[in-house]
Amino acid sequence: MYITELEAVAFRNLSGVSIRPCREVNLIYGDNAQGKTNLLEALWMFTGCRSFRAAKDAELLQFGKQKARLFLEYYGHDRLQTMQLDIEKGRTFTQNGVRLPSPSRAMGEFLAVVFSPVHLTLVKDGPAARRRFLDNAIGQLKPKYGAALSDYNKALLQRNLVLKDAAYHRELFDTLDVWEDRIAYYGSEILRQRIGYVQRLRNFSADIYAGISRKKETLRVSYAQAVPTEGADRKELYESLLANLKKARKDDLLTGTTSVGPHRDDLAVEIDFLSARTFASQGQQRSAALALKLGEAAVIRNFTNEQPVALLDDVMSELDTARQNYILNHIRDWQVFITCCDPSSVKSLRYGKAFAMKEGRILK
Ligand SMILES: Nc1ncnc2c1ncn2[C@@H]1O[C@H](COP(=O)(O)OP(=O)(O)OP(=O)(O)O)[C@@H](O)[C@H]1O
Ligand SMILES: [Mg+2]
Repeated sequence: MYITELEAVAFRNLSGVSIRPCREVNLIYGDNAQGKTNLLEALWMFTGCRSFRAAKDAELLQFGKQKARLFLEYYGHDRLQTMQLDIEKGRTFTQNGVRLPSPSRAMGEFLAVVFSPVHLTLVKDGPAARRRFLDNAIGQLKPKYGAALSDYNKALLQRNLVLKDAAYHRELFDTLDVWEDRIAYYGSEILRQRIGYVQRLRNFSADIYAGISRKKETLRVSYAQAVPTEGADRKELYESLLANLKKARKDDLLTGTTSVGPHRDDLAVEIDFLSARTFASQGQQRSAALALKLGEAAVIRNFTNEQPVALLDDVMSELDTARQNYILNHIRDWQVFITCCDPSSVKSLRYGKAFAMKEGRILK
């Protein structure tokens, strides 16, 4: 999948931008606060997802404007297509001239992955950030996953309520069996999907990391859970989760929380067999987060036969020249947009196209 044209009108500080990117690396460079991230955000909006940084659609409208318009021409699903996004009170998508009934219908049409500085939390923060990454990535590929996750969370909430109240209401105690069965039922589906996803992700991410580090370091990602169950089928996962819940019951009654299950699991990220969160340098952490996001794109390609467009915001800082060079010149057969402040990166770019951004405009 690749973009052939983008137009943005009254979107953030982009009053009227029109670009024709190349099929390889597109470098958007300029000083701080000129609109580089805004341009990536404009592209991202066509995925049908919410912005990776704005909470509300209204924030996307240029100050003082009532509406914004974005237009995209792209090649995807074996043909040249157009998508228009009008942002007024809400978001309205028009694909190939046909208005889509709701923004969620746009999902799965134009595919992209985004890496921005907030994604460093993937490596630097606690397990919740990595569980969210897994859940979002799987949710995009398997629409039913979101429902299992929400049913799981409901059952978990109920078990926790009972754990807290059981001391005062002994009759509630019997309902624990029911909630534990539900948790194990939905939880085993979540485990099955997450374990399967990580199996696909890990080779791609390892290859990408090897490239970035010129094979000097290895990246290893694995699904980390209290009781390892790799290779187990859904029934075995259900039985093992249920047995663990029963085993944990006595302790859980004291704390009033559920101590086992996918809500406590993690995606372990290791560089040269050491936890990246605890021991890796800034540049290594950035490289690892990038390898996870590009790995996510590779899994999507594997699954849909479409290569998502990569949007890399401010990926270069903290990386040495060799790593920067890899990102600029070795991600081939893949459309990439990279923002950076340093104009010297343009000289290092061998095949791509560079766009200078100033005050919300692309300089000619
Ligand atoms: N709704 C809006 N309307 C008009 N301008 C906006 C709006 N939202 C943000 N801006 C402005 O857009 C400017 C550029 O933002 P952007 O994040 O794209 O900069 P950048 O080029 O990525 O800078 P940096 O290199 O620091 O990341 C900001 O200075 C901000 O004031
Ligand atoms: Mg920026």
